[in-house]
Amino acid sequence: MKNNWKFIDDKATFILEQPEKTSHLYFPLVNEKLMMSSITPDLHGDIKIDHNHFLSPPVSIFDLHNSRASRNFFIRVDGKLFAANGSTNRIENKDETQLEAGILWHKLIRKNQDFGLKIEVTNFVPQIDKFIELMKVSITNISDDSKTIMSTVSIPLYGRSADSIRDHRHVTSLLNTTEIEEYGIKLKPTLSFDELGHLENDIEYVVLASDQNDKSPQYYYTDIDSFIGEGGNLDYPLDLISLSNAKKLGDQTVNGKESIAGLVFEEVDLKPQEIKDYYIVISIGEKISIKDLQKKYANQNAFNHYFEDNIKYWSKKLDPLSIKTSDSRYDNWMRWVSLQPILRRLMGNSFLPYHDYGRGGRGWRDLWQDALGLLLLESEDIADDLYSFFAGIRMDGSNATIIGANPGEFIADRNNIPRVWMDHGVWPLKTLQVYLENTGNYQFLLKEQTYFKDHLIHRAQKIDQLWDVEQGNFQKDIKNNIYLGTIFEHLLIQHLTAFFNVGEHNNILLEGADWNDGMDMADNNGESVAFTAFYAGNIAQLSEYAKKIKKLGFQSIDLASEFELLIDQISMPIDYDKPQEKQARLKIYFNQISHKIKNKKISIDINDLIIDLENKAKWMFEHLRKNEWISNNSDAWFNGYYDDFGNQVENTDPSNIRMTLTGQVFPIMSGVATEDQIKSITKAANKYLYQKDMGGLRLNTDFGGPQMNLGRAFGFAYGTKENGAMFSHMSVMYANALYERGFIKEGYRILKEIYSHCQDFSKSKMYPGLPEYIGPSGRGYYFYLTGSASWYLFTIVNQVFGIKGKDGNLLLSPKLLKEQFDKNCNAVIHTNFANKKFKVTFINKDQKEYGSYKINKILLNDQEIHFKKTDDNAIIDRTLLTALKDNQIHNLTITLT
Ligand code: G1P
Repeated sequence: MKNNWKFIDDKATFILEQPEKTSHLYFPLVNEKLMMSSITPDLHGDIKIDHNHFLSPPVSIFDLHNSRASRNFFIRVDGKLFAANGSTNRIENKDETQLEAGILWHKLIRKNQDFGLKIEVTNFVPQIDKFIELMKVSITNISDDSKTIMSTVSIPLYGRSADSIRDHRHVTSLLNTTEIEEYGIKLKPTLSFDELGHLENDIEYVVLASDQNDKSPQYYYTDIDSFIGEGGNLDYPLDLISLSNAKKLGDQTVNGKESIAGLVFEEVDLKPQEIKDYYIVISIGEKISIKDLQKKYANQNAFNHYFEDNIKYWSKKLDPLSIKTSDSRYDNWMRWVSLQPILRRLMGNSFLPYHDYGRGGRGWRDLWQDALGLLLLESEDIADDLYSFFAGIRMDGSNATIIGANPGEFIADRNNIPRVWMDHGVWPLKTLQVYLENTGNYQFLLKEQTYFKDHLIHRAQKIDQLWDVEQGNFQKDIKNNIYLGTIFEHLLIQHLTAFFNVGEHNNILLEGADWNDGMDMADNNGESVAFTAFYAGNIAQLSEYAKKIKKLGFQSIDLASEFELLIDQISMPIDYDKPQEKQARLKIYFNQISHKIKNKKISIDINDLIIDLENKAKWMFEHLRKNEWISNNSDAWFNGYYDDFGNQVENTDPSNIRMTLTGQVFPIMSGVATEDQIKSITKAANKYLYQKDMGGLRLNTDFGGPQMNLGRAFGFAYGTKENGAMFSHMSVMYANALYERGFIKEGYRILKEIYSHCQDFSKSKMYPGLPEYIGPSGRGYYFYLTGSASWYLFTIVNQVFGIKGKDGNLLLSPKLLKEQFDKNCNAVIHTNFANKKFKVTFINKDQKEYGSYKINKILLNDQEIHFKKTDDNAIIDRTLLTALKDNQIHNLTITLT
C-alpha cells in the first residue's frame, strides 16, 4: 500500500509521510470548555470558541488550500525565509515532511537539507477550563555548520464573527485595536459588529510566545500590511527580510487594520544538532493577562505537563470502549470512530472545514444519535440528559428545532421558515430503548416532563396567534399551569400523531423531510414509506413498554384527556384503511391542543392501551407488506417514498430502476420485512446499489437529475452526499438492521467494506475515522462530525460483540465471525455496563464459525459464574455486576464451544 498512514502504538497514534501531498486533510483540536481548532498539514484551519468569536479567519474546505492566512513560523537564514508550514517553497518543494498525530494532538515535522534545518510543530488544546491552544516549535540544526537564525511566529488575528467573512469584512477590520505587550499581541475590536445593534466588545484575542529561556520576542507586528510588506503576502512576508516595519515594545500600533501576531525573536546561533524551542499560546477571552499566560503555559514544563494531561484525558474517555480483534489496524481505527460522538457533542455540526454551515449547535436527530454513542462511552449517567431532551417535544408530536446550550434548553425559532422533519419522532425511543434495556429502569417512563410550546401548531402548518414569547416555552393548561406528562406519554404523542398523519397512500407524510435532509421538496403529498416502517416498529415496541409498566404494578395510565382521540380503538375507532378518517381525527386533536389544553387527565386501562397499540402496529405491518413491496421478474424490494405528485418513487422496471437504501433499512430494522423479503432486498441492493470503489452501497440509484417534486438532494451531482453517495450513516444502519435480523454475514460485509475503504488512504484520502460519505472518486467527505460514528459504535458493541442490556441484566449474544478472533482465538472489548468497567474476552479455541458456537462458561474475575441460557445467548444477573467495585476493570471471560 503506497503512502498510507500507519499506527505506531495501540492508542491510535499514527504517522503519515508527506501529508501535504493530499488535499482537504484536517484534524480537530478541542477541549470541554469549547476551544475549537482545526489544523491541517500546512498548519491551516481555524481557531474559535463559537460562531461569533473566531481568533483566525473562519475556513471552509476550499480555503484550506486557497487562503494564505494560517498559523505559521518563519525562520530567516542568510536573508531567506523557511516556513514551518512549507509556504516559502511551495513550488520547488524539497521538504521532507511527516505528520504524527494522536488523540488529540498534532505534530508536523519538516526537514530541508538546503536550509539544514528541521522544524517540529506540535499543537493541542489543553484540557483546562480556558480557551487556549498551545503550540511548540522546535528547530534543529541538521547541517554540519553553525547557523544564524531569526524565528518569527505568524498567526493572523481575525477577532470577530464568522458572519463578517463576507458581510462587511473590511468595515469590521476598522474596529480592530491592537496592543503590544511583552511576549505577545492582543487584539480587541472596539465593537462587535451587528447591523441589528452594535455592541461594545469585551473579547480579546491573544497570541504570545517565548523561547525556551523565557525570552520574549524582540520585534512585533500587529497588522498584516506591515508584516507582509508592499507586494508581499503571508506565504512569504517580505518585511521579515528587512524588518523595516517591525515595532518594539512601547511603540504605538496602527489600529483599524487586519491584524496579525507577528512575533520576531532575536537572531541566535544554532550549532550542528543544537535544538531551539519556542512556546506559543493562543487564547480567547476577557481581560487576558499576557504575562500570566506566558508564565503558566509558555515553557517546557507546562507544555509537557498539559500535553501528558491531554493524552491521559482522552485515554480515560476512550479506554472504556476499546477492542482487540484479529486486526490491530482496525482496533486502532475504531478508537478514532469512538472519539467521533464526543467530538460532535462538543462541536455540533458547524466547526470543522467541511462543516461550514450552521451557527453551532446540533439538530434534534443528532442530539439523540449522539446520545446513543455517548450512552456507550459515557455510561448511564446520561439519563438526566435524556430526560431533559424530552422537554423539546410539542403536544402535536413535532419538536423544537433550536437546541440551547444546556441540556433540555429549547428555543422558539421565530425567524426561520417553520419545518417539521417527519422522522424526528422515532429517534428518542430508539435511544431510550438502549438506556432502558441496559438499566431495567422502566420507572423512567413514568417520570413527568413538560412539553415545548411556541407559536407553531398543527405540526407547523398553522400559527397560534394567541401565543407570545412572554408565555414561555411550556405547554400550559387553561388554568395556566405548566402541563406535565409522563415520558411514556411523550413517546405516545410522537408516534400516534405520526400514525394518523398520513397521505393518500396511507403512509406517513414526508412533511419537511425525513432522515434524509435532502428529501425536502414534497411537503404537500410526499410520503415516507421508509419511516412509516420505523414508526410501525416503534409502536409495537411501545406496546411492550405498556406491558412493562403493567409489570410495575399499574393497571392504568394517566394521559392528557385530549389524547383519548388518538387511542381510538377503545371507544371511537376509525377505519385505518381510510387516510381521510385518520387525518380528520388528527385535526380534531390538533384543534384541542393548539393553545392551552384542558386541565384534565384521563385514566386509560393498560390492557386497552396495549390492544390499541398492537392493532395499530399490526395494521401498519400488513399495509406495508401488502402495498409497498414492489417487484419485477427477477428482483423485489420496498418502495421507500411517494413524491409530491403522489407517485411511487421507487421503480422495478429494468429500463428505469429506482431504488433507495433508506427504503430497505427501516422495514428490515423494524421487523416489517420478512426473512424472505430480506433475502430479496440484499440481492437487489447488491445488484443496483453496490459500488466497490465507493466502499459499499450507495444511498440510491441515479434518478437522472433534479427531482423538483422530491427534494434538493437530487440536484447534487450523482454520487455526492444525499444523492447516491455511500452515506455512512444509512449503510451502518443497514448493517445494524441486518445483524438484528440474523443476517450476520451480510451485515459484517457492509461494516468491513466501509472500514477497508476508509483505511485505504490512497482511496479515501482521509485520516483514520468514519466520514459522512464516500464520493464518486472514492474520497471521504465530512470528517469527524457525523452521526454514523454513533451507529457504528453501537453496532459493534450491541450486535457484533453482542453486549447489551436485557431488563437491566447483561445479555451476551456474540455475533463474531471466525475471522474476527485474533491469533490466540480471542476477541476482546472494553465496555461499560451497570456503571462498571469490563474487559470482555470471548474465547473461541475451537475456531468455530458464527452459528456453530455457543456460550459454554463465563468467568467473572477468574471465578466461574452462573448465567441464564437463552438460545445461544447468556444473561448475567445485574446484581452480580452492581456488587463489583467501581473504578476498576473487571474481567469477563466467555468460553465459546
Ligand atoms: C447528516 C446530518 C443527519 C442527516 C443526514 C442525512 O448526516 O447530520 O442529521 O440525517 O445528514 O441528511 P451526518 O453528517 O450526521 O452523517
